Amino acid sequence: MERITTQALAEKFIEEQIAELRAQIGDGKVLLALSGGVDSSVVAALLIKAVGQQLVSVHVNHGLLRKGEAEQVVRVFRDELKSNLIYVDAQDRFLDKLAGVADPETKRKIIGGEFIRVFEEEARKLEGIKFLAQGTIYPDILESGPVKAHHNVGGLPDDFDFELVEPIKFLFKDEVRVVGKALGLPDGMVFRQPFPGPGLGVRCVGAITRERLAAVRESDAILREEFAKNGLEGKVWQYFTIVPDFKSTGVKDGKRSFDWPVVIRAVNTRDAMTATVEDIPFDLLQHITKRITSEVPGVNRVLYDLTPKPTGTIEWE
Ligand code: XMP
Repeated sequence: MERITTQALAEKFIEEQIAELRAQIGDGKVLLALSGGVDSSVVAALLIKAVGQQLVSVHVNHGLLRKGEAEQVVRVFRDELKSNLIYVDAQDRFLDKLAGVADPETKRKIIGGEFIRVFEEEARKLEGIKFLAQGTIYPDILESGPVKAHHNVGGLPDDFDFELVEPIKFLFKDEVRVVGKALGLPDGMVFRQPFPGPGLGVRCVGAITRERLAAVRESDAILREEFAKNGLEGKVWQYFTIVPDFKSTGVKDGKRSFDWPVVIRAVNTRDAMTATVEDIPFDLLQHITKRITSEVPGVNRVLYDLTPKPTGTIEWE
């Protein structure tokens, strides 16, 4: 199959998919878990073009999203594209379930399991859904690569007898981005860096608290803003902040403080199996440090993780 590398090829793919989706779906209703990631967003945009209001998207805010993400999903898919979007604010529900849980795999299981339950509850409220759309892409089918498949809303109870709709299952990530661009989705959505399914949950090391989660979210927003301003967006493969679950002493406003550190991670990789550390200009690191320590409550130190993969993994959990 020809790889989709240009706008013209993407437009041809979109035309073909619209015809195929209409033939498969007819006048049926389609359900989609819309995370706001590039894959599910492209699937949503294709379905909106093909079957319009027959698509019902559900966006679950599990409280572990980056700053502004849920708002962007609502703005693009409800306000701009006028599609049928159900926004579920499940932040408290997830954070209550996660309270006191420090083990990384248990945290992942709780987040994944709770996601299925919330999605299932929303699906049960709807009537006449025949199809379930998924942002499966080709690497998910090949089951290659360490980027864990998070697209499959597998685990739904057996009485849900949905027929699957998977319009981008033969595309690679770079092709999905070209299609997303041709569909007119915003660059911030199409070219965004990989983001794990359990979201900021894996970057708030140990048992998640609301305060520490806020420190992860705010420091991440500052890092992304500074990378964008300094031409590093789109150049560095993945960058984010981590907040470990220990404190250290410092001095703030003339007083001793006992606060968390923020760790910056910025890496480049081809396939996420190995990774190298980005050589960030020292003055930019100093500027980001100054902003994080003065703008983010509860933080008194900033560290830069110099560890390649191996020996470190990209994420800390
Ligand atoms: P690691 O930390 O294993 O990460 O070097 C490799 C890539 O996978 C992403 N990652 C995840 N993605 N669910 C996901 O959907 C996860 O639990 C998860 N853990 C890591 C990570 O962001 C990196 O791009």
